[in-house]
Amino acid sequence: MKIAFFSTKSYDREFFDRNPTTHEIIYFEARLTHQTVNLAAGCTAVCVFVNDKLSANVIGELKKAGVQLIALRCAGFNNVNLVAAKENSISVVRVPDYSPYAVAEHAVALILTLNRKTHKAYNRVREGNFSLERLTGFDLYGKTVGVIGTGKIGQVFCEIMLGFGCRVLAFDLVAHQPTAAKGVEYLPLTDIFQQADIISLHCPLNEQTSHIINEQTIAMMKEGVMIINTSRGALIDTIAAIGGLKTGHIGYLGLDVYEQEQKLFFNDLSENIIQDDDIMRLISFPNVLITAHQGFFTEEALTQIARITMQNVDDFQAGNTLKNRVM
Ligand code: NAI
Repeated sequence: MKIAFFSTKSYDREFFDRNPTTHEIIYFEARLTHQTVNLAAGCTAVCVFVNDKLSANVIGELKKAGVQLIALRCAGFNNVNLVAAKENSISVVRVPDYSPYAVAEHAVALILTLNRKTHKAYNRVREGNFSLERLTGFDLYGKTVGVIGTGKIGQVFCEIMLGFGCRVLAFDLVAHQPTAAKGVEYLPLTDIFQQADIISLHCPLNEQTSHIINEQTIAMMKEGVMIINTSRGALIDTIAAIGGLKTGHIGYLGLDVYEQEQKLFFNDLSENIIQDDDIMRLISFPNVLITAHQGFFTEEALTQIARITMQNVDDFQAGNTLKNRVM
């Protein structure tokens, strides 16, 4: 099968090329958009990542190009118009479970860095500045952590925070009983907003969760709350977050994802004039830490992503049941 891979970087090629395959893979650096969709001409499948935009329009063009399968090499699928895929009889598969540890541990890295300011200490010490002024952190032990979404990643995150001796509160549409049995308290969302010292988002982006962190919900939170988002950018209303940071209501913000990340993340723009004023404002705060969607970026996760993606393609070609089918 001929497969057009969009949004590829050197690491994608490295990990996918490790798996022997009978398929013909064509790697493109371009994102899949209305402008680039013609690159898929003659391909049976496209393989896409988080910031490829599979709108109804693009999916209609893919159908005309002969594409029958959209293979996401990620877990989230909010960037695919599933209704259009169904109407065009294009199957959609994803990698639902590659390493929940990678993302959960990255969320913890953001918390620890924001709290103990190791990024600032590293730079200070390299410059011969051994002062501790303004590096004060707080003990995680005994703090209340609110977790929104206790699926695969949220469950691992809860366990790590329990290990720190935190009180862990959670909200999900369905409580995960084994997680509750470990000591996590499931509460209504508003209780979590009101009680948590740290809030970490681990739910998917959909109509219910879009801007779940907004002006009203920020107002419910404790003064100085820490918010961590390793899930999807649009869970947070960026303008509301900037407002909360300016008043000091939000004490710390750790982001691995950003609402407008498509135009920025995964690219070296260090010589460019960044046109996104909101991210530049966020970067200007001393208590904001942004990483460019690297939660998944571990050796183990990349290995699993490549293996499961190609297994999904093999299953499609063989006419097997698609266990990782989105629709
Ligand atoms: P999952 O599907 O195992 O868990 C998601 C959980 O969110 C489920 O328990 C679901 O019931 C819950 N949920 C759905 N709607 C909700 C709502 N309205 N309120 C509260 N909870 C709700 O997904 P997984 O693997 O844990 O991934 C979570 C998210 O992490 C993905 O959707 C994706 O956006 C993000 N992600 C980020 C990565 C990164 O590199 N930063 C990598 C992989 C995933």
